[in-house]
This record gives sequence, structure tokens and C-alpha cells, in this order.
Amino acid sequence: MKERIKELLEEVKGLQALNKEDLESLRIKYLSKKGEITSLFNDFRSVSNEQKREVGQLLNDLKNTAQNKIDELKSSIENKIDEENKLDLTRTPDPIELGTRHPLSIVKTEIADIFGRLGFVIAEGPEVEDDWHVFSALNFPPEHPARDMQDTFFITRDPDVLLRTHTSSVQTRVMTSQEPPIRVLCPGRVYRNEAISYRAHCFFHQVEGLYIDKNVSFADLKQALLYFAKEMFGEGTKIRLRPSYFPFTEPSAEMDISCNLCGGKGCPFCKGTGWVEILGCGMVDPNVLDSCGIDSKVYTGYAFGMGIERITNLKYQVKDLRMFSENDVRFLNQFKSAY
Ligand code: DAH
Repeated sequence: MKERIKELLEEVKGLQALNKEDLESLRIKYLSKKGEITSLFNDFRSVSNEQKREVGQLLNDLKNTAQNKIDELKSSIENKIDEENKLDLTRTPDPIELGTRHPLSIVKTEIADIFGRLGFVIAEGPEVEDDWHVFSALNFPPEHPARDMQDTFFITRDPDVLLRTHTSSVQTRVMTSQEPPIRVLCPGRVYRNEAISYRAHCFFHQVEGLYIDKNVSFADLKQALLYFAKEMFGEGTKIRLRPSYFPFTEPSAEMDISCNLCGGKGCPFCKGTGWVEILGCGMVDPNVLDSCGIDSKVYTGYAFGMGIERITNLKYQVKDLRMFSENDVRFLNQFKSAY
């Protein structure tokens, strides 16, 4: 009998039940009136008196172990059922896909980061502007073609309410509200009345830079732009400055970088020249400083302006700039960035 008790004890310790039905059949098998353990209790009567104490103890042990095991299985089955029934009705039925940053945002942030390392801070201004901030203060003569309906969007009958055509208007805002030294970077959207094509749009984005202090020179400008070009397009990038004209800078220049596709050897992208234009720049015209209330006898400054779409094209070779505003996720998903 002792053998049988030991056998059953081992068996009972290893019991498993997946559901309530399994568990009930185990209970019947061992502990019901006709169960195996109950029938051992019946046999107990025939155990000799000397063995009664020892066997009785073993038998009680067996019964308790079986009962505990069954209780334990019962509570784990109940817990499992609770878990399965726990419905989170606030969960979305489909996983939410992680978005990507817009390529123009990526490039804008990278430009801001690079100039940030040179001490430039972000400044912003309104997109709906007046003539003075966009043109007059920046030395545009009254008959300048940029003021024309052909280029500028006027949004009311009042010719003094217009959409800015360049972020140089933020220069005006900063110069009229801050004292030098000024070192700002002004990213933003600008508007021009252009026919939309793969290479022109009626809105696009620019970043303007402005640095005003005592003794700011053209050499400072050149050094800052060289640093930018190398950081943005790689250490091997060269720059060249060509004389140009802007009403608000004197002297003015346009900057080319060595073509980042062919490394300057000449390719279809740079039309065989080895150079691609990326920005306009120059020393702030003393007239501009004076009209914004900064003494041009004490201070000098430089400014530069670039198109974010242009820089993005150079970095990612986007052939058609309409893609930037079409919201096609197949295009947008390709841009993954740390920025
Ligand atoms: N505002 C000019 C444009 O929209 C770009 C520009 C050129 C900005 C030269 C500047 C500059 O600050 O110095 O074409």
C-alpha cells in the first residue's frame, strides 16, 4: 500500500490541466467518492495496527497534496480566462505607422544646425507682409520688377498687403527690433506668382542669414559660407563667389559649390561646368542699415539667402519640385533622418 501511495503522490505532483473540464476529470479521478485516493482510504481499514500510524500519515499527505494541486491548477486556469477576457477598447485596430519628416524640414533643420554652430539663432516673421518690410526698406527702387503683379501676390485691393516674396523681409523685422550684434537665421515659406512646373512653384522655402556687428567683413562671409558648404555637402566641397547684384547688398555675389554629383569634373547635372549655384549673398547695403535704424558708420554686416528646395535637390536629387507638395507617401517615406 505504501508503494501505491508513493506512486500516486508522484503522479499528483505532476498533474496538468488546460481547462476547467480537464480539471474536473482530475478531481473525479483522485478525490471523488470513487476516486483513487478515496478508495485507498477505504483500504486503510485492512492495514495492520503497527503500520496504521505511518500509512495514515502518508495517506493524509497524499490527500492534501492532491487537493492543493487541484486548487492551484484551478486558480491558474481562472487567471488565464481573466487575461483573455481583458479587452482594451481604446487600442487602435491597426498599428499606427510611424511617420517620416518632410525632406524640406530635414534640410531646413540641418542648415539651422550648421549655422547654429556658428552662433546664428532662428528668427521668424510673418508671411503676409507690407511693401516696406519686403521691398522699400531693402533698397528696392519703386519701379523694381519684383514689386510687379507679375511676381508678387497682392491679397487684397490694398497694394500694401502682400505675400512675402523672400525671407529677406525678416532681416528688416530683426534690424528694426534688435540692437547689434545680430546673428540670425530666418527660415520660412515665400510666395511668387510663377507658373507651376517641375522647376518653379508659386510657393517655396528660403533660409536667410544676417550678421551685423562692428568690423564684419566680406572675408567673414566667405569663411562662414565655406564652412556651411563643407558641413552640408562634404569636406571636399569647394566654393566660388561670382559678382552679382541684389538691391539690399553691396557688393553682392552668388555662390557656387563644386558639383556634388560629379565632384567638379562636369556632368549633365552641372551642365558640364563642374559648378552649381546655391545661394546669393553680400555685404548689407548701408542704405538698408540706415533705413532700419542701424548706424552704417558704426556697423557693417553680411547677408545671404538660399532656397531650401534647391539645397534639397542637390542632396537628394529630387528632379521635380512639385513632389515636395504632393503629399505622396511613396515619395515621403524614402526620407529617414536623425533630424
Ligand atoms: N532675397 C534673395 C532672393 O530671394 C536672396 C538673397 C540674395 C538674400 C542675397 C540675401 C542676399 O540675403 O544677400 O532671391
